[in-house]
Amino acid sequence: MADEKNDENIVSEAQIAVHWKEEEYFEPNTKFIAQANLTDPDILEKFGEKNFPECYKDYADLLTWDKYWGTTLDTSDPPHWKWFVGGKLNASYNCIDRHLAKYKNKTAIHFVPEPEDEPIVHMTYQELYNKVNEFAAVLRDYCGLKKGDTVTLHMPMIPELAITMLACARLGVIHSQVFSGFSGKACADRIVDAKSKFLITADSYYRGGKLLDHKEKADIACGRAEEEGQHVEKVLIWQRYPGKYSAATPLVEGRDVFINDILKDYRNVKVKPVSLDSTDTLFLMYTSGTTGKPKGAQHSIGGYMSYVTGTSKYIQDIHPEDVYWCMADIGWITGHSYIIYGPLALAASSVIFEGVPTHPDAGRPWRVAEELDVNIFHTSPTAIRALRRVGPDEPAKYNYHFKHMTTVGEPIEPNVWRWYYNTVGKKEAVIVDTWWQTETGGFLCSTVPGLHKMKPGSTGPGVPGIYPEILDDDGNPLPKGCGKAGNIVIRNPWPGLMMTIWGDDERFKNVYFARYNKDPESKDWHDWPYFAGDGAVEAPDGYFRILGRIDDVINVAGHRLGTKELESAGLMVDEVGEAAVVPVADPIKGKVPHIFVSLKPGIEPTEALKKKISDTLASEIGPIAKPGRVWIVPDMPKTRSGKIMRRVLGAIAAGKDAGDVTTLANPEIVEEIKKLY
Ligand code: PRX
Repeated sequence: MADEKNDENIVSEAQIAVHWKEEEYFEPNTKFIAQANLTDPDILEKFGEKNFPECYKDYADLLTWDKYWGTTLDTSDPPHWKWFVGGKLNASYNCIDRHLAKYKNKTAIHFVPEPEDEPIVHMTYQELYNKVNEFAAVLRDYCGLKKGDTVTLHMPMIPELAITMLACARLGVIHSQVFSGFSGKACADRIVDAKSKFLITADSYYRGGKLLDHKEKADIACGRAEEEGQHVEKVLIWQRYPGKYSAATPLVEGRDVFINDILKDYRNVKVKPVSLDSTDTLFLMYTSGTTGKPKGAQHSIGGYMSYVTGTSKYIQDIHPEDVYWCMADIGWITGHSYIIYGPLALAASSVIFEGVPTHPDAGRPWRVAEELDVNIFHTSPTAIRALRRVGPDEPAKYNYHFKHMTTVGEPIEPNVWRWYYNTVGKKEAVIVDTWWQTETGGFLCSTVPGLHKMKPGSTGPGVPGIYPEILDDDGNPLPKGCGKAGNIVIRNPWPGLMMTIWGDDERFKNVYFARYNKDPESKDWHDWPYFAGDGAVEAPDGYFRILGRIDDVINVAGHRLGTKELESAGLMVDEVGEAAVVPVADPIKGKVPHIFVSLKPGIEPTEALKKKISDTLASEIGPIAKPGRVWIVPDMPKTRSGKIMRRVLGAIAAGKDAGDVTTLANPEIVEEIKKLY
């Protein structure tokens, strides 16, 4: 879609941005600065290029190492950068054990169930320690799992997800958590790619007032995985209500077990955290790519943990005394880095919220904030827009006070930013707009909250130790403030960057480095800029404004969906001949996919068929993929070489002029499709 960025006929983030004027700055308040973890401007110098890579020692020193590392950055196998080489540590130990002496009685996790009449669970560090140990014993002794094995998790937002991840981390077992809203089929694809023999799931969870049967997805996942040659030996099932089965789907004899039943045999068993190499793998997180197959971003232990702990401390401003609530789902990278690993490594109290923010009404998040006295709040523009739409005056009704708020996942419109600042933050909280990706482990651009002014709609400069730059298509840097959009790259390695794509080193190189690599033989990191795949502009003050994806990926409500994945799901409907998916601007979700289909000969377009297509996308990928609209068209606009012109479809879907269509093989079709608008 690179060409489409400059095309006036497509509603892209680039266009929104072009219409954005430079916004006024907002100053962080003095009360915030007085308590902030980072207020010394020397940090920017300290993390400057002159001190790279040794500057990152500061982050690594926030962790407890079993063995200190010898080499800070090993660049011998570009672009597989290795951080803190020779060091040994354990992530579970760093998130739990080391806090016990001082904080065993402190809440590690506040679990907020969706039903408001169910009490909030406050799990102390000691309790978390006990539960993680017992479950690690199950994984090791009952399942026979050991360092380097993979397991797939398909778990909802319940504390057992944190327990499962940390139990895996204790053993060096690589967890691959799949977002619970994803379908059984999507879970199967990830089981197959990760070659997992175990699936850990839950029987049910609440979503929008309903207790959903989640176990049924495990059956679909295992069935599909089997068809693709990956046998799942055991499905371990957490119960939403321990001791009670809350799903209708029957258990599969010999394969399915309730974790609650097995745990009885492991009561109070302790498992010594395995001392692991810094460059061993902590987890996989699958993300959509330009081709159908999702990519497993493979994150390290030492580099990743250092990076998320450092950025949690300095950008999220987390102190152990804070009550921190990130409303993202743990099934996405945000939840891994900034609900679990970063906050817990800093001994914070982290909130896990099961439900939908606007259920039963838009006051729910603010009641939770009031009850728990949350002071750091972290969410996405999509959630902010939804809360603003249905409850613009709700925050004022509740007595909570945030010192700090984050927005993440998509560009935020300045007027939405201002509502977040004025109404949700009550003009007391600083805001950080953090730009980053599944692949990057942690934040790339953001203001440092105690140091920088905020500017609505702009993410900010690179965070300390990150040196971003905007390149044109030929790799030439665009001058700051030139007002032109280009491709944002990070010039240097950093500890949070994934080590590779699971099982596909070539794809890792091709997707993220090939575009701007200066010399494939070079062992000098300067020759390997990281290509993020986002368009951006840099203002004269060095703040970046992110314009959105430049590849075939649609960012729906802050979640990436590959257009190819969506189209191939559409093509699974028998009646469909061709399918094309385009992003269309949406006031709440940022973007929603519209799917255009042409039907096989002799098939009549009906409302029932549209519904079938829509339902198939939702069942194949997940409800998040439900198209904003299904368009049944007589034919697709095509180039003479037969390529579907998605640009034209995007313009029509947005009600815009389709522009010059004379080069099409079938220009007359454009008018026909327009009539459907
Ligand atoms: O396009 C950027 C957008 O989300 C993409 C990364 O998506 P994902 O890997 O799912 O991770 C989401 C959470 C980190 C980016 O390539 N994006 C992320 N944060 C921002 C953003 N766009 C604008 N502003 C942001 N703050």
